Amino acid sequence: MIATKSCTLPLAIALATAVTFSMVTAKLYAHGDVTPQAVDTSGLPELGDEWLVENPWRDPHGEHWKRAVEVGSSAYNQNCARCHGLGAVSGGLAPDLRKLEANDYGDEWYLERYRNGYTQSGITRMPAFGELLGQEAAWAIRTYVETRPAEDAVEKHLDVLQGHRDTLSEHAKQEKAATENEAELASIKENLMEIAGKMKTASGAPKADSVASRAAAALDGSDAGVASAAEILTVGLSAAQ
Ligand code: HEC
Repeated sequence: MIATKSCTLPLAIALATAVTFSMVTAKLYAHGDVTPQAVDTSGLPELGDEWLVENPWRDPHGEHWKRAVEVGSSAYNQNCARCHGLGAVSGGLAPDLRKLEANDYGDEWYLERYRNGYTQSGITRMPAFGELLGQEAAWAIRTYVETRPAEDAVEKHLDVLQGHRDTLSEHAKQEKAATENEAELASIKENLMEIAGKMKTASGAPKADSVASRAAAALDGSDAGVASAAEILTVGLSAAQ
C-alpha cells in the first residue's frame, strides 16, 4: 500500500506536468508560434465581404499587379514564410506554394487553406487567416507566390546578373550616374528585360516577378534608379546563392 502511494504522487505530478506542458505546446502551435501580422493593403482596391473565386490581380498588365506583388511579398514573408519558406522557396516543412496552379482550381484550393487553415488529429498545422488578414491580403499573397520565378530560373543567369550588378554599383558611385553612362545603362536595361522574359513561373502565371524584372523597371533614367537597380540585384542575388 505504502509502496503504491509513494508511487502515485510522483506519477500524478509527472502526469500533471506532462499535461500542462502539452497544453502549452498545443496552444503555441495552434497560433503558429507568432501572432499574425496585420497587412498594409493601401493602394489596393477593397474587394468587399463576398469572397471572390479567382485572383482579381493575376493579369500583369492590370492596374494593380505590381502593388499586389509588393503587398503580398511583405504579407507572405511575415505570415507564411516560417512554414512555407522565405521567398516561397519551401524547406520541406509545408508545401511549396510556387507550384500551386495559377488558375481557378488553384485559387479554390488556395482559399480553402487560407480561410480555414489545416487541422490534423486536433493539432493546428496551419492557422486560419481568412478572418484575421482578410480578402485583399489573401489575393495579394496569392499574386506574390504565383509570380515567383521557378526553381533555377535565377541561377541560370547568375553570372550575367552579377556582372550587371557590379557595373551598376560602380556607376552608382558617380555623381551623374545616369547621364554619363546612358548608352551602357540602356543596354543593361534591355538585357535585364530579356532575361526577365526568359524566367518562367512554376505556377503557370504569365509573368515572373524576378530580380531581373525589378532591376530593369528601376532603371528609369534617373541617378536614383541606377542606385536602386544595383541594390535590387545585390539583395536579390545574395538570396539566390
Ligand atoms: C504554422 C505553419 C504554417 C503557416 C504559418 C502557414 N501554413 Fe500553409 N500550410 C501548412 C501546412 C503544414 C500545410 C499542409 C497541409 C496539407 O496537408 O494540406 C499547408 C498548406 C497550405 C496550402 C495548400 C498547399 C498545397 O499545395 O496543397 C496553402 C495554399 C497554404 N498553406 C497557404 C498559406 C498561406 C497563404 C499562409 C500565410 C498567410 C500560410 N499557408 C501559413 C503550414 C503553415
